Amino acid sequence: MILAPSILAADFANLQNEVFMLNASQADWVHVDIMDGVFVPNISFGIPVCEAINRHSTKLLDVHLMIVQPEKYLEAFQKVGAKILTVHYEACPHLHRSIQQIKDLGCLAGVALNPHTPISVLEDIIADLDMVCLMSVNPGFGGQKFIAKTYDKIRKLKTLISENNSSAKIEIDGGVNLENAPKLLQAGADILVAGSVVFGAKNPMEMIANLKKA
Ligand code: DX5
Ligand code: ZN
Repeated sequence: MILAPSILAADFANLQNEVFMLNASQADWVHVDIMDGVFVPNISFGIPVCEAINRHSTKLLDVHLMIVQPEKYLEAFQKVGAKILTVHYEACPHLHRSIQQIKDLGCLAGVALNPHTPISVLEDIIADLDMVCLMSVNPGFGGQKFIAKTYDKIRKLKTLISENNSSAKIEIDGGVNLENAPKLLQAGADILVAGSVVFGAKNPMEMIANLKKA
């Protein structure tokens, strides 16, 4: 499994040390949550902060764009180190074009689905995707309660992926903890994002190691 701690839950006044901690940990990726205050009711941080994280990080940057018109910013995030660019289905009227743009930039392309968005909307695009991010909370904030319906969606998505010979990996984002992590992997998840459970832990490195054992 791939573990992607979400930097959203880090201490932003101590970001360099938080990135060093992740470098020294068993984390696989760093999940970077970009929020614009329009697509989601919260503002996180933007391109310069992503650049600063990338400058110190040895891990792959997994950038989750919770913004409207993400196509305007894809290149900017690729330039500051994004290796995976995930856009929201709900924010992209021309999703196929946005996915092609991500690939043309040399990045892996992901699509995120809000909790209320059915898996079936991906039918005609799944073969083109490298990753699907299933939101297991409503995007906008860390530390929210995991939505159990996600298990069902993982199984449906798994079926859609195999029916279409897609190589898309399944990422779960929101409310992941030590209790649900093994169940999510068993249901078919490949990548787990974890924010508050990692950075809120007494010993974040140990928490990462424990999550990796899930
Ligand atoms: C939510 C973000 C998540 C968030 C996860 O909008 O996309 O990545 O940081 O945080 P936790 O693990 O605290 O739910
Ligand atoms: Zn996220």
